[in-house]
Amino acid sequence: MATRAATKKKPAAKAAKSSKAVVKKFETVLVEKKDRIAWVIMNRPEKRNAMSPQLHLDMNDALEELAIDDSVDVVVITGAGKAFSAGQDIRLYFRGTTGDPVLRHKSKNASHHWRWTTLSKFPKLTIAMVNGFCFGGAFTQVSACDLAIAADDAIFGLSEINWGILPGGIVSWNVVNTMSYRDAMYYAITGDTFTGKEAAAMRFINKSVPKARLKAETTKLAKKMMKKNPTAVRYTKEGIRAVKEMSVDQAADYLNAKSDALKYQDPENGRQKGMAQFLDDKTYRPGLGEYDRSKDL
Ligand code: ACO
Repeated sequence: MATRAATKKKPAAKAAKSSKAVVKKFETVLVEKKDRIAWVIMNRPEKRNAMSPQLHLDMNDALEELAIDDSVDVVVITGAGKAFSAGQDIRLYFRGTTGDPVLRHKSKNASHHWRWTTLSKFPKLTIAMVNGFCFGGAFTQVSACDLAIAADDAIFGLSEINWGILPGGIVSWNVVNTMSYRDAMYYAITGDTFTGKEAAAMRFINKSVPKARLKAETTKLAKKMMKKNPTAVRYTKEGIRAVKEMSVDQAADYLNAKSDALKYQDPENGRQKGMAQFLDDKTYRPGLGEYDRSKDL
């Protein structure tokens, strides 16, 4: 649907000039598509992209469309202006829903749904690109994405303690699963901030780069991943997430079944292609890079 809106509304000359499909149909979220990458931008820069009930609804709609959009392989979540996201909108998400149980319930569901349920099971590769401030509830979408990259000087903070609440939703669970226990405890109880560089050093994110290179480095990472077999990438990320909760015996059983499923579900028959290109054609070395997806078996 996003593609349809873009083709219908954009004048051809303008679209050609930017060579970028811009879909601006959401009130608080901007979706830009270029070279099979969708940039999903939380777009309330004047409020540091604090997450309002409307933003949660918009993100759900945007991601639902992108999950089945054939023109997109990788989804990047980021923020407009100087913030990634200042967390939940204290005015609209908390105070604004007090005394309105229906709105509170809908907002809470929508908030959890896109930030965790959808993103952590997304069928395509997801990257959180943390361009600036990242506070409180915004840790959930960073943790949910498969990969995370930040500007060196981005500011992260579990600021809940500073205004008398705890990291709720599932933020506490997210941080004990993505940080060391010591770091999770320290930052949750002190509310101290840490930079993108420090986030990378503590492995909360994959890496940090100077802000001027953030978009280029994220694009490079997305394009590198687009060379891999997408079905294998999907099954692998599902496997990595699933085995974390399992015993070794359960994991062995699950991974056998998952491998068989991949063998039969992969439309490009990557396993056979890889074997043929290595063993018969001798055109690549699987240890050093991926097979050539453009070649037929
Ligand atoms: N909720 C509601 N409004 C917010 C939020 C927020 N989380 N964050 C920023 N805003 C609003 C401000 O109220 C201000 O609105 P106004 O222009 O109408 O007064 C506007 O965004 C700009 O904010 P400033 O504070 O002026 O921007 P600055 O760049 O100086 O500081 C910062 C940015 C550090 C992010 C600061 O706004 C802040 O501390 N925000 C709260 C961060 C936070 O604690 N988030 C956790 C929320 S709780 C949770 O997520 C569970």
